Amino acid sequence: MKKRMLSVLLSTAMVAAMLVGCGSQAAAPAAEAPAAEAPAEEEAPAEEEAPAEEEAPAEEEAPAAEEAGGLIKVGFAQVGHESDWRAANTQNYQDTFSEANGYELSFVDCDNDNAAQIEAVRSFIEQGVDYICIAPIETAGWDTVLQEAQDAGIDVLIVDRSVDASDSLYTTALGCDMVAEGETAGKWLEEYLNGAEAKILVIEGSVGASATLGRSEGFNNIAANHSEWEILDSQSGDFTQAGGQEVMESYIKSYQGFNVVVCQNDNEAYGAMDAMDAAGITYGVDGDVTIISYDATHDGLQYTLDGKISCNVECNPLQAGFAADVIQKLAAGESVDKWTLVVDEAFVAPGIESQYANTMSDELLAGRAY
Ligand code: AHR
Repeated sequence: MKKRMLSVLLSTAMVAAMLVGCGSQAAAPAAEAPAAEAPAEEEAPAEEEAPAEEEAPAEEEAPAAEEAGGLIKVGFAQVGHESDWRAANTQNYQDTFSEANGYELSFVDCDNDNAAQIEAVRSFIEQGVDYICIAPIETAGWDTVLQEAQDAGIDVLIVDRSVDASDSLYTTALGCDMVAEGETAGKWLEEYLNGAEAKILVIEGSVGASATLGRSEGFNNIAANHSEWEILDSQSGDFTQAGGQEVMESYIKSYQGFNVVVCQNDNEAYGAMDAMDAAGITYGVDGDVTIISYDATHDGLQYTLDGKISCNVECNPLQAGFAADVIQKLAAGESVDKWTLVVDEAFVAPGIESQYANTMSDELLAGRAY
């Protein structure tokens, strides 16, 4: 906070020097706030406090009065551009943290490089930004640079994914509950199979990412109750389509008789479907293999509507409104919750009824902007 006041005074002189990395600014449509729902019955991660109950702003608010003479400087160290989800998340931040909304955004695409992401945060500290948002590529390795930000008096928001550092080293965290997402996938499969045997292949996300660790933990929590389920293998497809295809091609060579493929994001599912198409393996509600995916992006939900992906567990990328809400409160000198949950839903293919998911329809797909 103390750094913020100083940097406001210096803001005009520093504007040119601030645009390090690829701080592209989008045109400035009204910020798209995530659906603000009451937290679902699933719990927030154990180490976090109860989710904030206040609603996300319906649209971006004007900057706090004390900042009216200048722009609030926000550095955002983004994971990369590995998936459609990530592209939607980046666009949402660029739309929300626009100059028209009172912000100067320094955006760095860290290309899934953990060391580069830590250096990006260091460069934000050197630039004297007011707030830093970090979507951590990996959970580990954050203590030192978070301490540096704290020593510089800069509020840090951990967004989307989590870190394993002490929560005393950052101001607040927000995002989806990845363990709950994995449990939703597992509970849906339990309901769908209704006691039938499963030979399961998992295509994980990036190694060390909380999205990977959480989804695996949640799914495995449910799988542990089913001796009739066998997880044949679980390997990283790096949250990319190419990674999903490569892992699936290797699985097809190594395993026979599998009937469930769990892809930890939609892009991996597209790659896995390409690999199965090439091998003549049928999948979907009318095929031999049941596909579970995560993210529920527009294209992922199209495949779900088409019956190719049987269950798609959402991870909502429209999180920038929550981050802006926190920053506005901090700028106004208000306290903020330590943890804000972005709530997810799940979707299943037509013909499937589930207590855990919405059955896909044209209307649901039409409402999916990303
Ligand atoms: O952290 C969110 C995950 O990261 C999304 O599931 C995936 O698509 C992205 O790359």
